Formats: sequence, structure tokens, C-alpha cells
Amino acid sequence: MTDETEKPARRLRSRDWFDNHERMDMTALYLERFMNYGITPEELRSGRPIIGIAQSGSDISPCNRIHIELARRVRDGIRDAGGIPMEFPVHPIFENCRRPTAALDRNLLYLGLVELLNGYPIDGVVLTTGCDKTTPSQIMAASTVDIPAIVLSGGPMLDGWHEGELVGSGTVIWRSRRKLAAGEISEEEFLDRATDSAPSAGHCNSMGTASTMNAVAEALGLSLTGCAAVPAPYRERGQYAYRTGQRIVEMVREDLKPSDILTREAFLNAIALVSVVGGSSNAQPHIQAMAAHAGVALNPEDWQAHGYDLPLLVNMQPAGEYLGERFHRAGGVPAALWELLQAGRLHGDVATCTGATMAENLCGRESHDREMIRRFDNPLMEKAGFLVLSGNLFDFGILKTSVISDEFRDRYLSRPGREGIFEARAIVFDGSDDYHRRINDPSLDIDEDCILVIRGSGVIGWPGSAEVVNMQPPDALIRRGSQWLPTLGDGRQSGTSDSPSILNVSPESAAGGGLSWLRTGDTIRVDLNEATCNALVDDEEIARRLAEDPAPPIPESNTPWEELFREKTGQLGEGGVMDFALKYRGTSRKLPRH
Ligand code: FES
Ligand code: MG
Repeated sequence: MTDETEKPARRLRSRDWFDNHERMDMTALYLERFMNYGITPEELRSGRPIIGIAQSGSDISPCNRIHIELARRVRDGIRDAGGIPMEFPVHPIFENCRRPTAALDRNLLYLGLVELLNGYPIDGVVLTTGCDKTTPSQIMAASTVDIPAIVLSGGPMLDGWHEGELVGSGTVIWRSRRKLAAGEISEEEFLDRATDSAPSAGHCNSMGTASTMNAVAEALGLSLTGCAAVPAPYRERGQYAYRTGQRIVEMVREDLKPSDILTREAFLNAIALVSVVGGSSNAQPHIQAMAAHAGVALNPEDWQAHGYDLPLLVNMQPAGEYLGERFHRAGGVPAALWELLQAGRLHGDVATCTGATMAENLCGRESHDREMIRRFDNPLMEKAGFLVLSGNLFDFGILKTSVISDEFRDRYLSRPGREGIFEARAIVFDGSDDYHRRINDPSLDIDEDCILVIRGSGVIGWPGSAEVVNMQPPDALIRRGSQWLPTLGDGRQSGTSDSPSILNVSPESAAGGGLSWLRTGDTIRVDLNEATCNALVDDEEIARRLAEDPAPPIPESNTPWEELFREKTGQLGEGGVMDFALKYRGTSRKLPRH
């Protein structure tokens, strides 16, 4: 425990509010309202660090609701280390319930949190994370303001079980909807399987976007070692909350800021981790966005150069079999990072929030459950990272190779002499309503030689970019045993999906990308060896179609933010960031005026 009377060497920014003799009028105004809930002026004027707790939990964000409880332990840790806690809400985000998509909220939470951290007397902050976008948004904001910041994950739910079978968040939905289409289960059974996958407080228990992004925060060096994977109801979760509160006070005293931690090497570590855990395809825009806000040059190609050739080591749904509890018991994120470090594929000398290097944090963290976390030289799959594709349809699209099933590989990627190459007839849908309306239309004549394409689902088109690319085949195909068709789209897909899809295609059709001129019946050629995806349509024909202006209509904005979001947000390949915001970095170095 730190001595409470210890004075920090630097003058903290909060003192400009509470200990400002030149502007006693303002200082009095600032002090009186905090005092009216019992805090004393002596405390606020003592020079003790004021630590924000960015509270992301609420009834409307159930995945993060555990933080309402955890904040008490965070406060204890802050107090015991000599700081003063100040808890405040951030814009809530709930991935599954937010219409038209929670993707609108990442940049909105970011904007709001920047204003809170910049405009109030906060010296350091605990970022409470969980549901998918609650992690990147808060890290983006902490980078912009650049005050000491630490991530406290809420942790996944307990493992879900249904009739003796592990059922993981999201993954069970995608698998069950195929069973429903095949007539194997009833609607009631469908609902039972879904509710059984969610047995407790916490975020998604599969390696979906939530588990991936919390693991990424730890790999970046922004949370205490082992924090990400502890299930929400476990007693260790409260202990991490307490220690996180203690540690942020020390970080303020050490002036250890996001800019000291978020280097290019840290981001390359995060990319490597996403590959070996079979992480969500949504990690790509989020990591790209966090790097952009940290001022780190990260190219879309870095995903392929530093991640694609890595093996799949973590046996967790959707790419593997198990769920979060076993992952945690097997050693969690440190054990996965340990494998990378031993293989020489992790930058071990990077700084982290613990005050030690990443390599020091990982000392002794080898897994002893080799069914759950495989050795680097005995993986579940070789070359299991993301492939970055390009061609005449788009400049950027990614394919998560760890979810390509053997069945899919045999059907599409293993033809003698043409390994890794397939051609398919495009069936083009304008958004998900169109897909649901027409997917079972016999006149489309969809068979195993088709690729399902969805457009109008990107940043501008949706708006926000929706998780709709994981389209399932027509019911008739599923009934005859075809679980997957190749899919392609300018939207995203759930991190819990096991669908082999070409995703996040940029530029999107609504921004004039190649999908806007693609037509049903065109042949698409995908070459994974060359990392290309092209429609076999000649340039003359493309020019003719473009002249006819075939761009599909997009819905009007329904709210002011939708309109502003569309105007300011870039494409997914670049992380979907608001370019104008990138020039604001280190805003805490300049105090806001009274
Ligand atoms: Fe919130 Fe998955 S829906 S964590
Ligand atoms: Mg999601």
C-alpha cells in the first residue's frame, strides 16, 4: 500500500481546479458541489490524484453490468493507494440490442469520453470494458487525452451448457439457425439453446469480439496481467478490480501514459495474439482505429505480414471447442502470449501498465492445459490469421482463416492443381432485408457454386457497418448438408460466427466501391495464394455499368448522429475512424480554460 501522505512530484492537472489561488472564485465553485456529498475540501486540495472510473455498465449494457459491483472494489483500491475516486457514466453500448447497429456507438462513446477526461479534474482513469466496442472506444479516448489509463475487463459469463453440450455466446445462434432451417429443432428449442449460452453476468463467453478485444487490451499492455479472461462472477474478478484501482494511482505518480505504452510493437503484439486465439474479425477495424488514435503507423497489410502465418493455439469457440472458463483456468491471455514469446513472435521488451515489461509479466505463465492452449509447435491449425485480399471489387477485405472448416476447405480450396483458388457465381443482395426476402427464392437457383454477396452494409450504407455478412445458405441447401457458402460483403460479421467470409470490404458500395457495379450472375474468382478477389468482368463492361450509375439506394439517416457519423467516419479498412479527430492527441497537456 502506498503512503497516503506521499506527495506527487508533479503538479497534477486536478489542482488547477481545486487548488488555484489566482481564481478562488472558480475554485470555490468547483469545490462546493463535490463537498455536498461528503467529500472534504482538505481531501480535494491535498494534491491526491483524482481517478476517474469510466463506468460502462448499466441496465442498457448488460454485458458490462458487473462493473456497477466492481466499481466498489476499484474505489477501495484507489482509496487505499491514496487517490480519490470519481465514477461517471459513459455512453452505453450493447452489441446485440442496438439498432440499426452498435457500430454507430464506438465513435460516439469515444467523443463523449474525450470531453469528460479533458474537461473535468481527472488525473488518471480506469476504463471499465466488456461488450465489443466498449474496449476500443475507451482506449481511443484515453489516447487522445493521454492521461494515465488502465483497462479493467468485466470478464466473460460462465460457460453455457445445453443438454450436456457446451453452447457459446453467439456461436450457438449461428449454429442453431442452421438447425432450425434444416428442420432439426423447434423455435422453442432454438430459444432454450440461446438462453442456456448466457448463464451469468459477464460478456460473451466465446472468443467473439468482446473476449478478443479484452485480450487485445491486455496484449497491448493496458491491463494487469491475467485480467482479461477471468469470468465475471469469479472471486478473482473483484481482486483484479481492487488491484487495478491501486495500480492506476501509482501510474499517475509515475506519469505512465497511453503514449508510453501504445507503440507499434505493442500493436503488432495485439495482431499476433488475435491470430493465435482465433479472435474476432472485428479486431481489425478496432486495432486499426486504436493505432490511428495513438499516432502509430499500422497498415492493413500488417495483418497479413505479422499475423497470417501464425498458428491457432487457443481451442475456443467459434474456431475451436471450449469457452471462457476453461481458457481462464488454462492460463488465459498470458499463457497464449507466453507461447508467442517462446517462439520469438512477441515483442517482449515493450512497456506495460504494470511498470514491468511484457516479457517480465509473462514469466512463469506457461499453460498446463494443452487441450485448451496448444504448444506453438503443435497447433490446432497452421497459418490461421487473417488474409487481406484486394482486387477489382475492393482495395481491402479480410478473411478469418481460422474458421474455415475442413468441409469448406475440401469443397472450395482443395481442387487438384488449383489449391486455394475457387470461382463462384455471385448472388447479390442489397442489405439484409433483401437477403431475408429472397434467399429461399427458387428462381435464384442457388447451389454450391455460388457466393453470397451483401452490399449496402458498410459505414455509410447501413449506416454504421452491420454484422450481416455471415449469411447462411438457402434452407434447401442446408437440408442437403451444405452448412456454408462463401460470402462476401462491405459489412462485418459477428466475432462469434464460424462463417468463412470476406469482410469489411473497403471501399463499400455506398462509397462507390466495386460491389456497386457487381451483378447477380457475375463470376467471382478468389485466389488465396495471391490474396486476390476479382469479378471476371472486363473493364469496358465495368465502365458501361458505372456510366449507368447502378449504385443501389441507401436508407436516409434517421438521427442527427447517423448523419454526422456518415459524414465524418472513414472506411473499415482504415479502422472506421473520424479523420478530423486524429490530430487531437495529448489534449491533457493543455489545460482547458476556466
Ligand atoms: Fe455484449 Fe457479446 S453482446 S459481449
Ligand atoms: Mg459483435
